[in-house]
Amino acid sequence: MKKILVTRAWPESVEVLLKSRYEITFRNAALSTDEWRAALQTYDAVCPCVADRLDASVFDNLKPHTQLIANYGVGYNHIDIAAATRCGLAVTNTPGVLTHATADLAMTLLLMLARRAGEGERQLRAGQWTGWYPTHLMGAMVTGATLGIVGMGRIGQAMAHKAHYGFGMKILYHSRHAVQDAEVQDMQAEFCGDLLDLLRRCDYVSLHCPGGAETRHMFSSEKFRCMQKHAYLINTSRGDVIDEQALLAALEAGQLAGAGLDVFENEPQVPAALCSREDVVLLPHLGSATLTTRTAMGMRVLRNLDAFFSGAALPDKVG
Ligand code: DGY
Repeated sequence: MKKILVTRAWPESVEVLLKSRYEITFRNAALSTDEWRAALQTYDAVCPCVADRLDASVFDNLKPHTQLIANYGVGYNHIDIAAATRCGLAVTNTPGVLTHATADLAMTLLLMLARRAGEGERQLRAGQWTGWYPTHLMGAMVTGATLGIVGMGRIGQAMAHKAHYGFGMKILYHSRHAVQDAEVQDMQAEFCGDLLDLLRRCDYVSLHCPGGAETRHMFSSEKFRCMQKHAYLINTSRGDVIDEQALLAALEAGQLAGAGLDVFENEPQVPAALCSREDVVLLPHLGSATLTTRTAMGMRVLRNLDAFFSGAALPDKVG
């Protein structure tokens, strides 16, 4: 049986299938660089996830026994693909199966921010709710507001769909190029080649671009200065798309009204200054966290492993 390293536990049903086909070692913790190097000389394939880091030092002058890195997740900016490829390793991901779960969570953050749901819940649980009154925790309207989507891939489009058809929101989007799909045309989503123009016009901005060098700190002081003072920023993509210190300064200066974050620059560390603010909603990277989705992600990894070891083309090769 082929030997596979899986770095974290998966939903039970997919683990059962995995174990019936392969000899599995579950690690249930992050690996150091040296441990990764040893693992890549031991296992036939490895299955990391977003909480793991396989940077260039892992692959430096390595002659791996492993031939496949089958990532459990769609984003792969935690793996240095170029360095892995130079060592002869193929890398796969799990596209498509977490689109709706992630867009649902982005919509959750948007609604929680607009309607001050986190603040309200904290107040109630602390026994500080004194009863109904007309000016209590007044929030912002979602229905009919304008949403800017940054990154109009699968998840961005799903978010646009939910916001437009569910809440009557007008959609602007910024992407490398205009999307020609009929569905995007039908909702009359407007392409903004100029991100600053989009920021000046939106009540809500939701980030759905990939992580990596190209998008690192895409949201810095210059971008926050262009946002409307009443606007909210939502991030379910990758933490380092936002410069967290610049975001904190912008919130402090009132350049935007608040932020809903599911991802952070140095997970699982979250700056204390963010945790102490009432105008942010913070979630622990839950975008794909439904049983259906996490099972489907595991099945997708399994499909890549099976294809690889049977000599078939890899369904989800990246890089
Ligand atoms: C991904 O798949 O990239 C998510 O961030 C983890 O679900």
